[in-house]
Amino acid sequence: MNSKEKQVPEEMSAIRQYEAGGALKVERTRVTRPGPGEVLVKMDAAPINPSDLALIAGGYLERSYPFTPGLEGSGRVVAAGSGLLPRLRLGKKVACSPAHGGDGTWAEYMLTSAMNVAPLPGGISPEQGSMMLVNPMTAMAFIKLAKEGKHRAIVNNAAASSLGKMLIRLSLSQDIPLINIVRKEEQIAVLKELGAIHVLNSSAGAFEKELKELTNKLGATLFLDAVTGSQSSILLEAAPRGSTLLAYARLSGDPITADPGFLIKEEKAIVGFQLGNWLQSKGLLFKLRFVSSVKKQLGSELSSHINRSYPIESVEEAIDHYRKHMSEGKIVLKIGSY
Ligand SMILES: NC(=O)c1ccc[n+]([C@@H]2O[C@H](COP(=O)([O-])OP(=O)(O)OC[C@H]3O[C@@H](n4cnc5c(N)ncnc54)[C@H](OP(=O)(O)O)[C@@H]3O)[C@@H](O)[C@H]2O)c1
Repeated sequence: MNSKEKQVPEEMSAIRQYEAGGALKVERTRVTRPGPGEVLVKMDAAPINPSDLALIAGGYLERSYPFTPGLEGSGRVVAAGSGLLPRLRLGKKVACSPAHGGDGTWAEYMLTSAMNVAPLPGGISPEQGSMMLVNPMTAMAFIKLAKEGKHRAIVNNAAASSLGKMLIRLSLSQDIPLINIVRKEEQIAVLKELGAIHVLNSSAGAFEKELKELTNKLGATLFLDAVTGSQSSILLEAAPRGSTLLAYARLSGDPITADPGFLIKEEKAIVGFQLGNWLQSKGLLFKLRFVSSVKKQLGSELSSHINRSYPIESVEEAIDHYRKHMSEGKIVLKIGSY
């Protein structure tokens, strides 16, 4: 055994699901040793994200059952398979995500590709580190897309989300005007407290008129849409000619509805965004620089507020809490004793 390798037990506790939408059970299951290019991570913490809820509900990603959910987390690499990268990562505290089709982070150990772990910066807590890979990178990607597309201002909905709050801080530090859309009146004050300048409530009577006026005044031509359904149509109607609607989630659960006239006569475009696909289109040097700049801002612009931690045994309670209070901060499963 390599001096950095830790004794790994034969069995662990893991959350398992047997069918789409089925109960989440905490079970004893085998710990698999890493093969070539793989690492074994002893998990510390894992958040509950909207994508986890979609995965558990079924239909979000192709899955074979039973499986362990959890699309990101943090921990320490305790065993490495053959290859340079696994050996380099051995002993490191990392942020991690599952291998394609593999079991996830809601377990005491996760086997994954060494490509799916990134060393955590010093001074970052396991909880904060468990959220390094998805929202911070997505928020940074959105700012990059806005700059590359020469968009003078951005619109984002579901803006009281963790990602939305990161975008608010980034838009201020990068000096890009941001129009935030929330659906509850009390969320306006929360976002203004963070420094947000423009916050509209989609449930208010004058919303559509105000959105149209503001987008035209600021020249907002990038519309980040996490809600879809009928809200996409409202965004497209408010959007100036030539705007892009970038669909990045489906929180309403509904398909995009839009008058084709917006696309045909006003040259507006609807495109999809998934972080994994976007990163895949980039070269290694870009990715290294990108991750390094995300790490630098993890404790500031890109931090996530943590509402509460739960042990994995209480996963159902944790999910219930999360569903009811999504905008109040992240619910994190505390797995390791750190
Ligand atoms: N495509 C990608 O690569 C990518 C990457 C990262 C994140 N995302 C997506 O980005 C979104 C934000 O993620 P997060 O982790 O930051 O979320 P989060 O902090 O867990 O918060 C979720 C937010 O969604 C809002 N929401 C839920 N259902 C809604 C609905 N039907 N209509 C309007 N708002 C609704 C909630 O507001 P209430 O308090 O009003 O319920 C809450 O503010 C998620 O949809 C996630 O899947 C996509």
